[in-house]
Amino acid sequence: MALKVLIRWEVKKPLLDEVLSEVLDKSVLPDPRDQALVAELINGVVRYLTYLDYLLARISKKPLEKLDPEVRNALRLGAYQLLFTRVPTQAAVAETVKILKRRRGQWIVNFVNAILRELARRKDEIDLPPREMDPAAYLTVRYSYPRWLVERWLTRFGEEETEALLKAGNERPVLVVRANTLRVTREQLLLYLKAEIPGASPCKYSPDGIALQGFQGRITNLRAFKVGWLQVQDEASQLVSYLVSPKPGERILDACAGVGGKTTHLAQLMRNTGRIYAMDVLPWRLKRLEENARRLGVTNIEVITGDATKSIETLGGNFFDRILIDAPCTGTGVIRRHPDIKWARSPEDLIRVPEKQLLLLKSLAPLLKRGGVMVYATCSLEPEENEDVIRRFLEEVSGFVVEDARKALPQTAHELVGEDGFLHTYPHRHGLDGFFAARLRKNN
Ligand SMILES: C[S@@+](CC[C@H](N)C(=O)[O-])C[C@H]1O[C@@H](n2cnc3c(N)ncnc32)[C@H](O)[C@@H]1O
Repeated sequence: MALKVLIRWEVKKPLLDEVLSEVLDKSVLPDPRDQALVAELINGVVRYLTYLDYLLARISKKPLEKLDPEVRNALRLGAYQLLFTRVPTQAAVAETVKILKRRRGQWIVNFVNAILRELARRKDEIDLPPREMDPAAYLTVRYSYPRWLVERWLTRFGEEETEALLKAGNERPVLVVRANTLRVTREQLLLYLKAEIPGASPCKYSPDGIALQGFQGRITNLRAFKVGWLQVQDEASQLVSYLVSPKPGERILDACAGVGGKTTHLAQLMRNTGRIYAMDVLPWRLKRLEENARRLGVTNIEVITGDATKSIETLGGNFFDRILIDAPCTGTGVIRRHPDIKWARSPEDLIRVPEKQLLLLKSLAPLLKRGGVMVYATCSLEPEENEDVIRRFLEEVSGFVVEDARKALPQTAHELVGEDGFLHTYPHRHGLDGFFAARLRKNN
């Protein structure tokens, strides 16, 4: 199953998470431990792609790119198990070879078998690129990131901090959920979850968050999920809704609502009153949003399929008390959750994407009431998509000021606000997803 997903990902480059859920939904694997193993293998290979390919290339006489996707990915899958899991060497090699035996000729089987055996023997002897000569090359291979991103972070953060950031991006994050306070308090939910997940504990920064340390299965199988007591949402993402600080009875626009992680949190902060208009260009995401809202007992949301940059015609006058723009971005702050992001981005994205982000801000600004609040958020660490977009917006559109994020965030999160008044979270500094968020007030 893992091999099938990896081939599909490599050939068509869809979102890894989506192929995985699709395959698991249709699968015949009843045991959650097997499902977790499939997810671990796939994410692991994608996370360490450069490193695995580097070692395999040192051993294989045939260049990896000359092999077909099935053989190349079988090798990666075998190598990942040998290097990063507790699967015994014999089993890792035998299982990989077994898949190919059924489908491929004897020489392929022998070839893969020989490479994996040699890798198991020599894995500790193969040298990485020498760090002193070329730190970027070393970090690129050792932590498996595209070179352009490593170079960019080296310039910005220096070698020591870059290494910490790269490392944090390879760590499997703890699953974090938000208590649906329309139905339970965090304390009640925590008590309930602890029976099943002893490692569950309250989050440090978000008053609604619970970290499920040690949880392995699929969250959708939990009873607490099915009855709508919780929503999966990282702590940093939860803080964004606090930054919007919606009040009961208000009218809110969530312009890039996606599957509604933040929309349903806004609803909960509004005690399910007022009205939230949840917009997205992708109808299937809004369908998932509606499913989430139903499960959570949220009824104050209206979904609108459409492009928020052309929303003036759809949405009419300036009648929103608050607007949230959870903008599409490169996602460099959430690599630990979605390792495929590393390979899906290019330096050109940092020119193209900010243009769209600025356009979203400029198009939505007129829809805000005077005195209203607009929050702009991304899960990117790149200044081009964050501070620069806000600076350009303030230069081009008059009447807005930046409000210090501490004005709206719970006290527990104040340490995450910079001198500039923006919310900045980093995986290697705070153990959170990397988010940026700015709170803007419209004065006239
Ligand atoms: C960062 S994601 C939103 C995540 C969501 N807010 C959550 O908390 O679960 C950005 C979303 O913006 C949507 N999007 C991209 N361009 C858009 C546009 N022009 N108008 C509206 N939505 C857009 C994408 O489809 C995507 O769902």
